Formats: sequence, C-alpha cells, structure tokens
Amino acid sequence: MAFLDKHSIIEKNATILMVLSLLVVSVGGAVEIAPLFYLENTIEDVEGMRPYSPLELTGRDIYVREGCYVCHSQMIRPLRDEVERYGHYSLAAESQYDHPAQWGSKRTGPDLARVGGRYSDAWHVDHLTNPQSVVPVSIMPKYGFLSNRMIEPTYIEDLLKTHRMVGVPYTDEMIASAKADFVAQADPDSDYEEMLARYPKAQVRNFDGKPGVSEMDALIAYLQMLGTLVDFSTFTPVANR
Ligand code: HEC
Repeated sequence: MAFLDKHSIIEKNATILMVLSLLVVSVGGAVEIAPLFYLENTIEDVEGMRPYSPLELTGRDIYVREGCYVCHSQMIRPLRDEVERYGHYSLAAESQYDHPAQWGSKRTGPDLARVGGRYSDAWHVDHLTNPQSVVPVSIMPKYGFLSNRMIEPTYIEDLLKTHRMVGVPYTDEMIASAKADFVAQADPDSDYEEMLARYPKAQVRNFDGKPGVSEMDALIAYLQMLGTLVDFSTFTPVANR
C-alpha cells in the first residue's frame, strides 16, 4: 500500500521518527492531562466519608510509624479475585483524607482496606501481641509493646490543624474538642454523643480492655474503622445513576 511505503521513510529517518513520536505523545498527553487542571475535584463525593476521629488519626500514625504498610496494602483493585476476597473495590473517596495514602506497594500480608469489623477487638489484641498464636504460620512481627505505651492527646489539636492545612475539612469545633473526643472514643462510659455527631459511625469502646488509652487502643480503633464508612448496600457510582 502506498501509505505504508511512505511510512518506511519515517522508520528509516531517526530525526523525523523522533519529532513525530514526540508530537503524538504530546497530543495524547495534553488530551489526558489538560482537563485535570479545569476540574474542581477529581474525586467523586461519596456519602459516609468523613475525616478520621482524633483517636483513629492517632492510630493511623502508629500504623505508619510501625511500617505496617510495608507488608499490607489498603487498596482493593476492581479484579474479581480481590473483590471476592476483600469486598467492594476501593473508591478514590475512601482515601481522600489520607495524608500520606496507605495504598502500599506490596502484599506480604492481606489487604486491610476493609478489615474493619471483620474480627473482634480481642482478636486484634491477641493477633498484634503474638500473631502466631492465632495464625501459626504467620510471619508478622509481634507488637505487644503497644499495650504498655500509654498516650496523652498532647498534640492532637496540632495534628488536626496540620491535616486541615493539606485539605482535610476539620472544623474549628472539631479542633477545639479534639482532646475530649480522643478520650471519649476509648471510654464507653463517657459522654460520647457529641463526638459521634462529629464523627458518625465512630466506634466507642475500650479497645484493648485495659484502663487508660494505649497505642494498642488507638491502632485497633483505626483498624476497626477501615472500610466501614461507606454503605455499599446503597452506593451507586455516578456513572450508573
Ligand atoms: C513482615 C510483614 C508484616 C508486617 C510488618 C505487618 N504484618 Fe500484618 N500480617 C502479615 C501477614 C503475613 C499476615 C497474614 C497472617 C496473619 O494473619 O498473621 C498479616 C495479617 C494481618 C491482619 C489480619 C488481616 C486479615 O484479613 O486476616 C491484620 C489486621 C494485620 N496483619 C495488621 C497489621 C498491623 C496493624 C501491622 C503494623 C503494626 C502489621 N500488620 C504489620 C504480615 C505483616
């Protein structure tokens, strides 16, 4: 074909090939990237998503500090085997308040994006203290020391403010009551109604069953909320509405 004959001219001339390739790539790139600058928001709003409660956010920091993300991902891909094992694939909105995101790049252990509610608090305490006691073949390290590390919410307001600076919609009220909310969530005998109004679906329990708030409490509060905010029995993606 005449057209293909002409193509050989391009293939034999490195300069023309390079210039034309660059042109194709730039047009393709511009078409993909340019709209992103004009969209106000690239994340679809999803009902139920809210910023982390002070206790959950503290637990999340412990998760990051201990490097749990080195072995655990928090992103369920829309592939059949993953969805059957872990539940509904992850939505962008579910990590919209994550700084930094905990998607992870390696799964030595299972994905944790929807681990919330899958096990009891006592199971988590046993498992984190000695993973091999519940899963004999586990290669997960022991984190029992978290139970002995008590925490005070000394810098919790600063932590919330920092997250607000990068776009998490913490209100002045949330920041002002951060200390009280932190304590309330770990104590089922407290007046936690206001905390619950600020952070719907937050779970109020003495997570490790011991007095005081330990790093174990905060970490389990975080694990138990993962993937529980969006109600997937009523969720429909924008494209299908
Ligand atoms: C060296 C890799 C490694 C690290 C680091 C690690 N884990 Fe694991 N984790 C595993 C493996 C492997 C399993 C599967 C066996 C088991 O349940 O212990 C697992 C299982 C789990 C489970 C149960 C998940 C399920 O659906 O059954 C939870 C929850 C968990 N890990 C939390 C954590 C937390 C929190 C941290 C950080 C404090 C952490 N892991 C650090 C390897 C790791």
